[in-house]
Amino acid sequence: MAELTLRKADQPQKGKTWPKPAGATRLREFHIYRYDPDTADNPRIDTYFVDLDNCGPMILDALLFIKNNIDPTLTLRRSCREGICGSCSMNINGLNTLACTKGMDDSSGAIKIYPLPHMPVVKDLVPDLSNFYAQHRAIEPWLKTTSPTPEKEWTQSIENRAKLDGLYECILCACCSTSCPSYWWNGEKYLGPAALLQAYRWLIDSRDETTAERLENLEDPFKLYRCHTIMNCAQVCPKGLNPAKAIAQIKKMMVERKAA
Ligand code: SF4
Ligand code: SF4
Ligand code: FES
Repeated sequence: MAELTLRKADQPQKGKTWPKPAGATRLREFHIYRYDPDTADNPRIDTYFVDLDNCGPMILDALLFIKNNIDPTLTLRRSCREGICGSCSMNINGLNTLACTKGMDDSSGAIKIYPLPHMPVVKDLVPDLSNFYAQHRAIEPWLKTTSPTPEKEWTQSIENRAKLDGLYECILCACCSTSCPSYWWNGEKYLGPAALLQAYRWLIDSRDETTAERLENLEDPFKLYRCHTIMNCAQVCPKGLNPAKAIAQIKKMMVERKAA
């Protein structure tokens, strides 16, 4: 039977309240999930205060303020700080999003930050995305052709190129897959919205010549059909993409393939 509550050893406990920055007059409170795999301790929620007069406006700025000025052991991923690399995805006030594009002004009161849900945690705000990346690889996200390679490049009409809009922009942040209930329960077998959006991106690329093979690879009771159109994925995507729509298009291609 499915276990619907966290084991006692996984339940976060009340953690430490760190001292307020000296001399600060405008403070914002943060409750942040901490987990250290090198101790036997339960995860804990630590409380921090950020000096708003010495910090940028985004959640990532606040996390870096904490790391640089209060607690250097706080662990998180980030790189580009402009919504392009997808590495700072986390759960902020109950919603999966990017810390670098989420403003502190978007909410009032204490800000609660957890790692992306339903993933193993490496440390603090860093989830283990190995399975997520393996699923991306499994859809073979590259151009596959059978014709002789052209002398210059594989060309594409403007109309066909436009079909990739709304798909190629995906930054693989995993906000969608980790917000999807179907992925929570069947994450090992169901490919999830991010990998399926990418699968569709290659299925409709006019230059790709392996559409039938790609569809055949998705013909499985779990890989594709576990999407129940709950739409959490489209709601959270920080790039405004709609994986649920891409999944529906793949299902349509499957039906057309069977009818052909
Ligand atoms: S629409 Fe499909 S992929 Fe998106 S959250 Fe719902 S079940 Fe998951
Ligand atoms: S579809 Fe959106 S939420 Fe999902 S991985 Fe791509 S950018 Fe992130
Ligand atoms: S740091 Fe790159 S997306 Fe946030």
